[in-house]
Amino acid sequence: MESRPQWGTRAGFILAAVGSAVGLGNIWRFPGVAYDNGGGAFFLPYLFALLTAGIPLLILEFTIGHKYRGSAPLSYTRASKGSEWLGWWQVMISFVISTYYAVIIAWAMAYAYFSINLQWQDSESPVSFLVGDYLKVTDPGKIGDLVPGVLIPLIIVWVITLGVLFAGVKKGIEVANKIMIPALVVLFLIIVIRALTLDGAVDGLNAFFKPNWDQIMEPEVWVAAYGQIFFSLSIAFAIMITYSSYLPKKSDLTNNAFITGFANSSVELLAGFGIFAALGFMAFSQGVAFEELDASMSGILLAFAVFPEIINQFPALNGLFGFLFFTCLVLAGLSSLISIVETFVSAASEKFNVSRPTAVAVGGGLSAVISLLFATQGGLNFLDVTDEFINQFGVALAGLFEVVFIAWIARQLTPLQKHANSVSDIQLGFWWKLCLGLITPIVLGYMMYGKLKERIIESYGGGSYPLEFVFNAGWAVAIGAMLIAVLLTVKPWNSNTVELPVSKKEVS
Ligand code: ALA
Repeated sequence: MESRPQWGTRAGFILAAVGSAVGLGNIWRFPGVAYDNGGGAFFLPYLFALLTAGIPLLILEFTIGHKYRGSAPLSYTRASKGSEWLGWWQVMISFVISTYYAVIIAWAMAYAYFSINLQWQDSESPVSFLVGDYLKVTDPGKIGDLVPGVLIPLIIVWVITLGVLFAGVKKGIEVANKIMIPALVVLFLIIVIRALTLDGAVDGLNAFFKPNWDQIMEPEVWVAAYGQIFFSLSIAFAIMITYSSYLPKKSDLTNNAFITGFANSSVELLAGFGIFAALGFMAFSQGVAFEELDASMSGILLAFAVFPEIINQFPALNGLFGFLFFTCLVLAGLSSLISIVETFVSAASEKFNVSRPTAVAVGGGLSAVISLLFATQGGLNFLDVTDEFINQFGVALAGLFEVVFIAWIARQLTPLQKHANSVSDIQLGFWWKLCLGLITPIVLGYMMYGKLKERIIESYGGGSYPLEFVFNAGWAVAIGAMLIAVLLTVKPWNSNTVELPVSKKEVS
């Protein structure tokens, strides 16, 4: 008999999966990515990526985790010998993401506090408050000192995250999500409804829905859409495989995946409505047309500089809305960070045969120490470059490798489809294999080729970052994740680990 932890209830699993999916990606990353990729023009590639790749991959990962009941490296190994590296690559991507994700949650925590008396108003503008007063940003490539205003909330973030993980799957992760997710939904709805009722909101929404056909043809926009969907749904970085490995034998996989996917996209689209409505209000307050808003703002600045600006202009209860917005970011971020760290905790404990508390202390501790780099004065620049590369040449690329490997090399789509259908109400049809075996590899492969070519020809940041810095914080991190993954496969699994525990083997 296996002693693998299990979720207590179906709702517990769904809340944890939704908690993982709904995160900074939905609220912090999405508006910035959408804004940088043409606003409304982004909507179409986003929906295409969601329906042909996002949801089918979510179903795939739920099925792999449920069928093979292991962390990502172990599940892939059980699915097909020789695929362990893919699991470790995805785990390494999670590890990298955890190191800066925790820091963004720390900023949000600090900003929830700053909102109480609109502290950014002491500065010339919210941008100069963020970059100058708060983060004290140095030139790209320089590290500088630790910033106490980031360090203190960062410590709180790690204490909560590792505390929840120490408590285990059922008593820790499940309980935490049962508290955080309902709270997040209520607070978020309040904010979005308020945003939609602001003057000028309609102009912002029009811009969100208006497709810009020229921009739609650019590979950049499509890779960004795939990257966003994968990041947002927590797919291709080992999380959903790990979470579904804790499901009991009788679990409806397809249904759970649809619920998780649609819940996540609903929050993301709601965030899109709320944010574009708020931007419309900002344009209205400044007396300019929506298109004339300063478009040079990068994604990172959107949540932490543009939002404070919008909050300044709110007709009433400014501080309260600021506090609610940043608290939403904290709740969404924490429930995702927990899942990101869980991937390497479970992988390390299986591979190195150590207890869960040891894996939490060593794995989580290591990530916490590395995250200090992003809490320095140079942290914002490092974060910007690392986030870009680990998403495009980490998450999106690993997603491409995953579908190609599972569909064409391991030839696992049919057995996995059978497995999912044997336990689910909604039966997977041919469409599922078509999306994963053909549409996603072709579209994503083509776009990834274009993106790689472009990134090699033109360095990230359009010259604002030194080449060496982009190499170290971007390329080296993304390529390093792949190489370390290969190294981690050198040590063989303990005897007995790879074989599926007999008690549940009949589910296939
Ligand atoms: N899925 C998580 C997010 O959207 C990682 O932030």
